[in-house]
Amino acid sequence: MPSPALTNRLRPTDSIVILTGAGISKESGLDTFRCAGGIWSQVDLEDVATPQGFARNPDLVHRFYNDRRRGLADPAVQPNAAHRALAELERRWKGDVLLVTQNIDDLHERGGSTAPLHMHGELLKAFCLHCRTVTEVQGDLSVHDHCLTCGRKGGMRPDVVWFGEMPYQMERIQRALEECDLFVSIGTSGHVYPAAGFVAEARSAGAYTVELNLEPSEGASHFHSSIHGPATQVVPAFVQDLLSIVR
Ligand code: APR
Repeated sequence: MPSPALTNRLRPTDSIVILTGAGISKESGLDTFRCAGGIWSQVDLEDVATPQGFARNPDLVHRFYNDRRRGLADPAVQPNAAHRALAELERRWKGDVLLVTQNIDDLHERGGSTAPLHMHGELLKAFCLHCRTVTEVQGDLSVHDHCLTCGRKGGMRPDVVWFGEMPYQMERIQRALEECDLFVSIGTSGHVYPAAGFVAEARSAGAYTVELNLEPSEGASHFHSSIHGPATQVVPAFVQDLLSIVR
């Protein structure tokens, strides 16, 4: 049943900001970072997710992201019911819906979302350190690749935001957080800033804040309400609750 605290206060024209993390893609077969056996227990983030790591050993960094790109290309890895439910919300909600994802996979797009904002970049994109051109990338990247734009070699890197770098489109995100009526966080541990601070910003600007996660995140105390469970169960149910107020 829809939660009165939520559906009594929302109007179908209200604006919604949704933040997703690795947990929403877990049931599609992609690893999270900090759960047991997660990515950061398999490899040191300093080596593969920092500019210093890339400068030290670009081959290691390319191998790390090449492996993740191959994993994403596995036919068994498909968008799940949570991705599809968010796409349905975007289609049927009358107000603005901004989907901000920390994920670098393309499962939101393949699940039907039209314009997810990838604040940490995208696994299937690369850019040239020499000319800054961004290109699509499907297969492997290596230090031997030449940039298709400037032709120079050795400058291609994954278009992924590493620790110590500024996430993408932060001004747009900040404006949306100040203006939204509902902030929903899905499948993120609330460990990494600035994303972990979004709930407090939205709440202080007057939004109602909800966390949908397998378990309480590090930021759980900031949320008005929390719904715990696997994303493929709690997200579709939550979206149907919201859509129950749309005529
Ligand atoms: N359904 C819902 N939530 C889940 C599920 C599931 N099936 N499985 C795991 N989770 C939750 C975990 O409980 C955890 O709180 O997803 C969260 C994943 O947390 P992290 O592994 O820390 O991933 P995330 O929050 O996305 O990390 C943020 O850190 O390393 C950087 O750039 C990286 O974007 C990433 C950022």
